[in-house]
Amino acid sequence: MTDNATQHWVMVGCGALAQWLGCSLIRRQPTLSLSVLHRQQRLRSCNYRLSTNNSEMTIELPTQHHDDRVADVVIAAVKAYQVSSLLRQLNQAPWFTDKTHLILSFNGMHSEPLTPLVSVNQQFLVTTSGVTRDHQGAHLHGIGQSWLGPMATNNVDVDNVFDTLAEAIAPLQGVDDIEQIRWQKLLINCAINALTVVADCVNGELLKAPYQATLHALLSEACDIAAQHGYHFDVEQSLQQTQQVLSQTAANSSSMRQDVLAARPTEIDYLNGFITKRGRQLGIVTPVNERLWQQVSAISCDHPQ
Ligand SMILES: NC(=O)c1ccc[n+]([C@@H]2O[C@H](COP(=O)([O-])OP(=O)(O)OC[C@H]3O[C@@H](n4cnc5c(N)ncnc54)[C@H](OP(=O)(O)O)[C@@H]3O)[C@@H](O)[C@H]2O)c1
Repeated sequence: MTDNATQHWVMVGCGALAQWLGCSLIRRQPTLSLSVLHRQQRLRSCNYRLSTNNSEMTIELPTQHHDDRVADVVIAAVKAYQVSSLLRQLNQAPWFTDKTHLILSFNGMHSEPLTPLVSVNQQFLVTTSGVTRDHQGAHLHGIGQSWLGPMATNNVDVDNVFDTLAEAIAPLQGVDDIEQIRWQKLLINCAINALTVVADCVNGELLKAPYQATLHALLSEACDIAAQHGYHFDVEQSLQQTQQVLSQTAANSSSMRQDVLAARPTEIDYLNGFITKRGRQLGIVTPVNERLWQQVSAISCDHPQ
């Protein structure tokens, strides 16, 4: 990997996390060559905007379709249901090579294996930061903890990429087993997101007594599935962590509730849907996750399988 001054990084799309990551990278590394893989191929440039409660930043970035430079790094923070088509697209892109370092970030898990990639350097980024977006840009509500770790064991020379990202979005922790963090986040998302949709409430409502049995049951089923993958989580401890997240985000609407209210597709198939489908494959019943999967699918524009 070349040094930062000569590296070319590509951000996928203009999503909430992409705008936060892109603006944070340029703030710390103004000379980094950064472009955007935009859906509208005719666009020559696009703006990333990031606001916080006390700052605002706008950068104009060239689009990748008008730049044939090989990408050293691609950062793809996309919805779980967008991952497969993106990977197929990247595999065909002339600027995405076996030397390109892919950083993928999304909530939830896929029941089927993802398309194998041309690139051998693949890492997963997990974050608890909170960013929303509207037509004006992205708004950073709070910087949380982020983790970066290899998706496969054959990663080479990733220190340089880690350092660049860590400077931009600290605190960032490098981990050997990113799957452990992904499962932990999956449990919490499975407990909170769908229930806020069905109860039509902000996160803090779920701290009330009537929801505790459902939260416990959701986590218990998800912990059973995680254990089958070698990840052992204590149900009571997971419930405490979930309650902690609910307290810290009490006034917030979960991303899934925001998606339903805005008539956008949700990631339910990759959260409670994933737990249910994996349970069926393993012969483990997960009735509480299954019911929420069906309920959210019925009121959103998703279609349960
Ligand atoms: N936002 C947060 O605070 C946060 C925190 C932690 C985790 N996450 C997770 O991180 C993932 C990304 O979240 P997000 O909030 O950033 O989602 P988002 O705002 O919907 O961003 C996804 C972006 O990727 C674009 N995109 C997808 N595939 C593309 C392709 N092939 N070519 C070009 N652009 C493409 C989408 O474009 P279109 O709009 O045109 O589809 C969209 O702009 C989700 O799984 C989310 O659950 C989010």
